[in-house]
Amino acid sequence: MGHMLGIFDSGFGGLTVLKPIHERLPEISTVYLGDNARAPYGIRTQEEIFQFTLEGVRFLFEKGCPLVILACNTASSQALRRIQQEVLPGEFPDRRVLGVIRPAVEYLAANSRRVGILATPATVTSEAYVHEFQKLNPEIVVSQVACPGLTDMIEKGQQDTAECHHLVTQFVQELLTQDPMIEQVLLACTHYPLVFLPFRKAVPGFMNVLTQGDLVAKSLKDYLLRHPEISHRLEKKSARTYFTTQDENISNLASMFYGSAIEFQKA
Ligand code: DGL
Repeated sequence: MGHMLGIFDSGFGGLTVLKPIHERLPEISTVYLGDNARAPYGIRTQEEIFQFTLEGVRFLFEKGCPLVILACNTASSQALRRIQQEVLPGEFPDRRVLGVIRPAVEYLAANSRRVGILATPATVTSEAYVHEFQKLNPEIVVSQVACPGLTDMIEKGQQDTAECHHLVTQFVQELLTQDPMIEQVLLACTHYPLVFLPFRKAVPGFMNVLTQGDLVAKSLKDYLLRHPEISHRLEKKSARTYFTTQDENISNLASMFYGSAIEFQKA
């Protein structure tokens, strides 16, 4: 296996980031790891999320990845900084790990004054979005709602059920109660684009509903231009490999979420 770009998520959600990465950077070889066996992460403690994410990053490093994207808000908010500060300098000084929060906040901070964040309980509790907005533009009004149960349903393939749509509507109502004048609503969990349509239906028409996959892919492209020392190490053969920690075959559901056939192997 050459030096691939690594993509990590707790399960299927990272595929919604991987897809736009494949579209914007088609030549770069990628290896994906979904920790489906232990998803969802969003209801776990900070320590668990940190340990599980670190295991995932180590797995991808062992596969030779010079750069890993945490295509997961929960892992980005609860584990990214610790990995960057406590693990990389001592153990992997020439490897990099990036997250998905910063690219979304950069875009939103330049394009709106009132934003709504829908995310997992762990992401909301971490206040990672609130802090990032404060750094870039403290005047932006940020409302957040935690959406427990939603990732779980998506992991089980129940995203089209009435129960799931009902949950989505409830979470949106909660957000609108906090701030009825939001301009942009961010689906700040990489699983949620898989229920984009129910969200779009529940959010009032004048509010924009945003997913982060393409923002992350665009920002990755810029990053690679600014960091030729990383970019040069990435294999450009369009190879695509998919790993999961799950025992059962998840390829069918994954292919549906990715939009074309992909084959997962056990990590
Ligand atoms: N897709 C992930 C995120 O962006 C994690 C969801 C979960 O495992 O709870 O937050």
